[in-house]
Amino acid sequence: MKSNFPALPDWEIQVKSPGRVNLLGEHVDYNQGMVLPAAIDRFVHLAARPLAERQVKIQALDLEQTVRFSLDSLDERVDENGERLPNWAVYAAGVAWALREHGLEVNGLQAMVTSNLPMGAGLSSSAALELAFALAWQAVGGWQIERMQLALICQRAENHYVGVNCGLMDQFACAHGVARHALFFDTRHLIWRPLPMPPKTAIVIADSGIQRQLANSAYNQRRQACEKAVADLKQVLPNIRALRDVSPQQLRENVDRLDETTFRRALHVVNEIERVQQACVCLENEDTPAFGRLLVESHRSLRDLFEASLAELDFLVETALQMDGCYGARLTGAGFGGCTVNLVRQECAQDFIDYLRDAYQRQFGRQTAIFSCQPSRGTHIVGK
Ligand code: GLA
Repeated sequence: MKSNFPALPDWEIQVKSPGRVNLLGEHVDYNQGMVLPAAIDRFVHLAARPLAERQVKIQALDLEQTVRFSLDSLDERVDENGERLPNWAVYAAGVAWALREHGLEVNGLQAMVTSNLPMGAGLSSSAALELAFALAWQAVGGWQIERMQLALICQRAENHYVGVNCGLMDQFACAHGVARHALFFDTRHLIWRPLPMPPKTAIVIADSGIQRQLANSAYNQRRQACEKAVADLKQVLPNIRALRDVSPQQLRENVDRLDETTFRRALHVVNEIERVQQACVCLENEDTPAFGRLLVESHRSLRDLFEASLAELDFLVETALQMDGCYGARLTGAGFGGCTVNLVRQECAQDFIDYLRDAYQRQFGRQTAIFSCQPSRGTHIVGK
């Protein structure tokens, strides 16, 4: 993986926008629960300057592609020749569309983009890109808006323009990252607070290299199962709005009201929400072993109840757990591919990375990117 960026032009707007890793609280945001992500020190880096005409011109350096589209044909999702926008450019166009829907001024822009975040690996490269463009348009437009609003606008772009039915966690985390801190986020009340990461630990990310091709359809099926659980439970618990409102005990008492699969999906969610709350206490008390055990419980629940894991992710997790200095490991993000996150004693991190890389290569015959990262500041204009 690249650690250095290709040089970007010295234009007046420079934005750094981090990816995110989710430490705990998986498949919980769209159930209005609590999550615990962190922005990481892998970034989308964007240089931009205003254009006088109502045009957007973007050069994606890593992909060696350039695209131009008009701000007057956003609804068509086409470039200036009427061709469909390439996938990556749809995110930028979607942000322009959603900002405009929100009544904000969106001006012509020229941008160059590069990134050292792996794409499609579950580290929210798309949210990072969205927030980078949102901030660039904010700088050009000169308007002010709350960070949470910006995250919501980017989520709206993804839901209604790109067509991915994601929750708010990724855009929230990219927008609000705090160095050396995890972010406790209540997705219903939109309140959050930073929590210091355990001292002398490293966050190690291991990329299975499996792109999440089926992720979108599997993700939507899981969302539907959660909605079905709420609809079925409403017959006896009329006041619930989301699985957030159901305790593990209430769910168990009503096991007969749900089909078996729906019950298991819901059980993951309600337990996972409890785990996030317990994890906050662990972080506050610097109880790293207990925090790590919650990560492992989360993985096993995602594997057995939510069925969002894969053999490669299970192997990475189980191998990690056999190693010295590993407090906990789990798949992170939507699952069905992508990465695992590992919490490792700082002094063991390099041996851990080397061993896990070799073990994965031996088992699956291919290389994987494994790297340690630091919780980082959210999307920002460089120098501000
Ligand atoms: C993806 C979505 C998020 C969240 C996670 C699962 O990353 O974009 O909103 O639902 O999956 O926790």
